[in-house]
Amino acid sequence: MIYSRITGTGGYLPDKVLTNHDLEKLVDTSDQWIRERTGISKRHVAEEGQYTVDLAEHAARRALEAAGRDPQDVDLIIVATTTPDRIFPSTACLLQKRLDRHGCAAFDIQAVCTGFVYALAVADKFIRTGAAKCALVVGAETLSRVLDWKDRTTCVLFGDGAGAVIVESSDEPGILSTHLHADGAYESLLTVAGGVGQGYDSLANGNGYVTMKGNEVFKVAVNTLGRIVDETLEANNLEKSDIDWLIPHQANIRIIQATAKKLRMSMDRVVVTVGEHGNTSSASVPLALDVAVRDGRIKRGEMLLMEAFGGGFTWGSILLKF
Ligand code: UT7
Repeated sequence: MIYSRITGTGGYLPDKVLTNHDLEKLVDTSDQWIRERTGISKRHVAEEGQYTVDLAEHAARRALEAAGRDPQDVDLIIVATTTPDRIFPSTACLLQKRLDRHGCAAFDIQAVCTGFVYALAVADKFIRTGAAKCALVVGAETLSRVLDWKDRTTCVLFGDGAGAVIVESSDEPGILSTHLHADGAYESLLTVAGGVGQGYDSLANGNGYVTMKGNEVFKVAVNTLGRIVDETLEANNLEKSDIDWLIPHQANIRIIQATAKKLRMSMDRVVVTVGEHGNTSSASVPLALDVAVRDGRIKRGEMLLMEAFGGGFTWGSILLKF
């Protein structure tokens, strides 16, 4: 039986930081409101001229180094992003060029905040079927470029960053299960409504920026993430107590706490990084994973549950033995 195993992780946050106090100068908000309602204290923002592929490259190189791999060992590149640098080629192709890797398959996945979970699930299928042996999977975003910095209901929530993993084929598990879902009926609750398919004019009048009905998204997110935890445990005949670490999408500390409560999991077994960088969309799960692997909390052989929820709506989980 072939399994896919994560053999290296990497993360990258741009140097430029915007604190809650910085945002107090831009919109009618307060450090207290942002901390209490979201758990966020700061976010990182790409500099002018710094693009999604730049963030992705840093994270990818760190993951390659951690896995002891060279770009030439990689035979599949998947980048999850909602903020690609170009309409085409894909950010995965731009990253491939940066890594001086020629010829292997490379493509983007767009599932907003669930993007990395989708991308890792796809890489898992490639590896299990023998179509790939060593995949580079990246979640990378420059969300700051699609934020209306005058809209306090969104601009305080998001940030830029990238996270990456190397996934390799192995006789030992590995990724145990992946569960992916979507329901496009909710497309209007969290969206950037414009797009080039509608013509460039569609990006004017605020339609090129994120809009969100935060409260409604919040309620669906909490319920849905609870359900996917149950679905994942049931599919694997596991008890809640079998999970060593929860690595949730980092959108809001209150959503994370609600999921942990449902798992009857103490918050010290949950990786929380949202305070440090806000919601980095598809980069959020691999960034959190990388932090907890590098600081020694997550150890080989432990059972990890990753879950995410985002625009679409999309949601998904990955259960794995690290
Ligand atoms: O990653 C994809 C998934 N995304 C999410 O999971 C995000 C889900 N939603 C949330 O995290 C929360 O709904 C928010 C953090 C966006 C908002 O928190 P909330 O507790 O749901 O607040 P609310 O939207 O119900 O707004 C409460 C009040 C409102 O004022 P009134 O109507 O009570 O007078 C808002 O206008 O807070 C006001 N408000 C703000 N006040 C200060 C909204 N944004 C701000 C702000 N600063 N930045």
